[in-house]
Amino acid sequence: MSASKVRTACRRFASAALLLADTAAAQSTLDAAAGQALFEKNWVTPPASTRASDGLGPYYDARSCAGCHPRAGQGAAPEALTIVIDDAVLGAQLQRHAVAGLPVEARVEVVSVPGQTPWLRAPAAGLQGYSLRLAPPLVGVAAFEQVVTAYLQSLADPLDANRDGVSGRLGGRYGWKAEVPGLRQQIGKALSLDIGIGSPEYPAVAGDCTPRQSACVGLAEASAEADVEASSLVLDLLVAYLASLPLPVPARPAAESLPGAWLFGDFGCTACHVPSLPTAAGRPLEAYSDLLLHDLGPGLADSLLRPPAAPGAVAEASPAEWRTAPLWGVASRSRLLHDGRATTLDAAIRWHDGEASGSRRHYEQAEEAARELLLGFLRSL
Ligand code: HEC
Ligand code: HEC
Repeated sequence: MSASKVRTACRRFASAALLLADTAAAQSTLDAAAGQALFEKNWVTPPASTRASDGLGPYYDARSCAGCHPRAGQGAAPEALTIVIDDAVLGAQLQRHAVAGLPVEARVEVVSVPGQTPWLRAPAAGLQGYSLRLAPPLVGVAAFEQVVTAYLQSLADPLDANRDGVSGRLGGRYGWKAEVPGLRQQIGKALSLDIGIGSPEYPAVAGDCTPRQSACVGLAEASAEADVEASSLVLDLLVAYLASLPLPVPARPAAESLPGAWLFGDFGCTACHVPSLPTAAGRPLEAYSDLLLHDLGPGLADSLLRPPAAPGAVAEASPAEWRTAPLWGVASRSRLLHDGRATTLDAAIRWHDGEASGSRRHYEQAEEAARELLLGFLRSL
């Protein structure tokens, strides 16, 4: 979709914003509103009468960002669990929908029973493992890019030199496995793998269909515009929308949550869930994460077979490594952990193992009353 088409699509927001003074602030309000419209709009199958909205698929998991991140991730959606794979035929994600005329990649069902690891029913023949990922909340995530890299590096201790059992290493800033360096790339990846829309970050109009999926390639080529489906401006506006979401504000000063806050440190949770991170913008980010990868043990590991890292390259996250989940606003989440297996804070903590096993033991061995104080503190974030 070209820049001019996006502008046309967003003109109705312009009339509201014109009432404001012509300042940078008005422009960013306008961009955020246009970005929100793009975030919520349903992409359609090409060719459509409105070329500005077409390009869906050929394979896709949802028609809009909001389909998986309702209210920017404050809500829960059934489509919100994606299936990450690494397959020569099926590509990087097993999409569960295909445009009319194209058979779906595989008829799979994610079986999700609270308290258990979700699994795939009828996985595609020959599939070499997979990794289920729940759509995370997006409030505040734009600011992860602003966190001072040198500070994160100072928190990392990949070889556990201080022998506290907690190591942590720096990957990218985005995704449950910190696989993606920046917000624009993450949005480009979502457009491509989740919705099947090409953009300057991920230009393929055929999205995640591989050369061996010839029916998919043929369909995409037959309907493709010369231009990419989502322009650089679309990416800018989506970034502007996510950056405009107000940061979660911890309920403070809450005297009753102080003992819980103390226990959070005493149990060793702050070794990874670092309360505050310095940012380039000056204002610290109270996300309760170090944004580093930690090995949380075999119980939380996925089964995806990863290609060996090229010599000299930084290894990708291993099956058991996950980026420390930010805990701000955690009380509003109905499903926790990377695949949504936990529905209570207590269950999420009890899944911690590996580098977090010492911390989990402190929690399990504490008096019931102390655990309640800690949970009360988490709910206040
Ligand atoms: C099919 C469901 C689905 C759709 C549609 C979708 N997402 Fe996501 N989103 C996810 C999942 C799952 C993850 C976690 C990915 C991972 O860890 O590999 C994610 C992660 C993200 C993240 C990173 C958050 C973090 O904490 O690191 C951002 C930002 C994001 N999505 C934005 C978007 C935008 C913008 C769109 C629309 C262009 C979109 N998503 C569409 C499911 C979806
Ligand atoms: C060694 C690092 C580490 C320590 C120590 C640690 N955590 Fe975590 N925590 C993580 C990681 C990594 C995840 C994401 C795991 C996943 O999704 O599979 C996580 C996830 C969580 C979640 C789920 C959040 C969500 O949105 O899904 C909660 C709640 C949580 N931790 C609380 C705690 C508490 C309370 C403690 C102390 C008793 C603690 N953690 C100690 C690394 C740690």
